[in-house]
Amino acid sequence: KTVFVLNGPNLNLLGQREPAVYGMHTLADVEKLCSAACARHGFALRFHQSNHEGALVDWIHEAGRVHAAGDLAGVVMNAGAYTHTSVALHDAIKGTGVTLIELHISNVHARESFRQHSCMAAAARAVMCGFGVPGYGLAIDGLAQLQPAA
Ligand code: DQA
Repeated sequence: KTVFVLNGPNLNLLGQREPAVYGMHTLADVEKLCSAACARHGFALRFHQSNHEGALVDWIHEAGRVHAAGDLAGVVMNAGAYTHTSVALHDAIKGTGVTLIELHISNVHARESFRQHSCMAAAARAVMCGFGVPGYGLAIDGLAQLQPAA
């Protein structure tokens, strides 16, 4: 089965962006960590980042097609700031029926009040935040736990 890991705006700046909040790992490091986590569970990985909301919607639709074919383990999504604003991402998750884990590197609840509302959470299967970059691996482990017994 395939795992989609989708990253939203400004996550291409990981490693240089507010390192006290997001750490020193780059997005390339995140991709390596996700490949290793997927390999542990026999999942294929599709890893993407975009600063554009519509591109993220399109990748959820692509995950939806893989889901319809019975080949999706799930989606791990760090939508960045779109988490807090995007009804379109909520609707894409609902509209495709994909199993999606909302992920944040930082503990958004310990930060500014505008980060404490998520448009996506009500459509997500699970929400994780505050584990830093290792959270991506934990989310993939979580998707493995959610798979129906073969
Ligand atoms: C983030 C938290 C969001 O509030 C922020 O806009 C981001 C990153 C995180 O990973 O902690 O871009 O999703």
